[in-house]
Amino acid sequence: MTHPHQRLLIIDFGSQVTQLIARRLRELNVYCEIHPFNRVDDAFLKSFAPRAVILSGGPASVYADGAPMPPAGVFDLGVPILGICYGQQVMMHCLGGKVEGGHGTAEFGRAFVTPTADKLSILDGWFTQGDEQVWMSHGDHVSKLAPGFQVYGTSPNAPFAITADVARNFYAVQFHPEVHHTPRGAKLYENFVRLAGFTSDWTMSSYREDAIEKIRAQVGDKQVICGLSGGVDSSVAAILIHEAIGDQLTCVFVDHGLLRKNEAAEVVRMFRDNYNIKLIHADESDLFLGALEGISDPETKRKTIGRLFIDVFQKYANQIEGAEFLAQGTLYPDVIESVSFSGGPSVTIKSHHNVGGLPEKMGLKLVEPLRELFKDEVRALGRELGLPQSFIGRHPFPGPGLAIRCPGEITREKLAILREADAVYIDQIRKHGLYDEIWQAFAAILPMKTVGVMGDGRTYDYAVAIRAVTSVDGMTADTYPFTNEFLGETMTRIINEVKGVNRVFYDLTSKPPGTIELE
Ligand code: XMP
Repeated sequence: MTHPHQRLLIIDFGSQVTQLIARRLRELNVYCEIHPFNRVDDAFLKSFAPRAVILSGGPASVYADGAPMPPAGVFDLGVPILGICYGQQVMMHCLGGKVEGGHGTAEFGRAFVTPTADKLSILDGWFTQGDEQVWMSHGDHVSKLAPGFQVYGTSPNAPFAITADVARNFYAVQFHPEVHHTPRGAKLYENFVRLAGFTSDWTMSSYREDAIEKIRAQVGDKQVICGLSGGVDSSVAAILIHEAIGDQLTCVFVDHGLLRKNEAAEVVRMFRDNYNIKLIHADESDLFLGALEGISDPETKRKTIGRLFIDVFQKYANQIEGAEFLAQGTLYPDVIESVSFSGGPSVTIKSHHNVGGLPEKMGLKLVEPLRELFKDEVRALGRELGLPQSFIGRHPFPGPGLAIRCPGEITREKLAILREADAVYIDQIRKHGLYDEIWQAFAAILPMKTVGVMGDGRTYDYAVAIRAVTSVDGMTADTYPFTNEFLGETMTRIINEVKGVNRVFYDLTSKPPGTIELE
């Protein structure tokens, strides 16, 4: 089988940070894929045809019953191999060395590695300023090297911190070069891929060309429908597919009446006018807001919106004659299979359905042109496709929209106030040049009115909360540290410019204990 790019295979043994290895490699324009150890056999190795292999870290002990092992053939491929942490231990174990556990062998957190006398090419650029800081996270350690290996670096608790069998191009380290706390770890990956002969042939423009060809081959002359949310992923997917098959694509943008100020108009303008993409603007706000009337429970709100969304999408999709494919903006982190140790060799597959269950129900096949990309790569592809930066850099916006920023009952009046307050708040953030430093910022309208005094009169109006967080992946978040001046100015602007608000709260809760959204 021939592949358009040089490929690197990462065999995953279940480390929490395996995805970061892939990130570091992609940053070097190297195409790589992560596959769990129990899905990689000799036939897979042959068809994957890697130019190099990385064995990831993992939580197991090599001498435990049923310890995860790579296929024997991996060491006979004749390609460079890099073992990280458990990957190092498994290499030693398979090639005739020894690994020990027990008291005194563990090392967690920051450590410093000291070089030995010999030079090693994957360490070029290392140790230029003395010992290197690395991140350790291991219970066991290597106690005897496999034949052919030599030590190139030691740390207080890992006498074999850096090891290599240069003749066979096998390299193995006890620490994690992929994490932030190994500050110069990227250099080690760079040296490794250079010595493996990678020529950085994986770029966004080549991805774009390959993806277009693949879409054409998959779809032929059939029709494709794509649900547009106005978010970056579905937008990039739609534009890419449009570039591949033009008018065979129809986008359906379901407007549930829970979008931000001007959002629907902007999405329609961009897709219909700028890109000339066939777009159905399904204004179903009456349906959604009607169904949500009187509902305060957050889960009931979410379920109601989810259920209606599928119904509506299906209704419009049925009108598109001959539609055989559904396009989705599924990303790589959604499709990587995670390794499970608790349940033996079983694997959990995280699958992501923007319009859950719909493909099966309607008998549609999926087109997922972003399946191989990480979020920031989708942004890079968006830039490559000419999407404006202001669109690509937009903060995430949840599917249920403003419904989950309006605790308690949702009314049109509250939504209108919320839209205005949010627009003023975001305008403030943009004016102060803070938008790109913040992961997500938004206003919420609270389910209460409070008393105030404006001019000479008493007011009894809604209270609004403003929230801004920093985050890497939305799983945890910190409050963004605005200055008091900024907060004061924002409070004044919201109250002056938005009718119906007389009080502004600033939400200081991190995640955990809070979640980013209020519901
Ligand atoms: P939470 O509130 O769970 O949010 O801390 C984490 C991130 O996920 C977004 N979010 C959603 N996105 N559908 C989405 O597409 C949803 O139902 C949903 N709920 C939360 C949230 O905006 C934040 O970025």
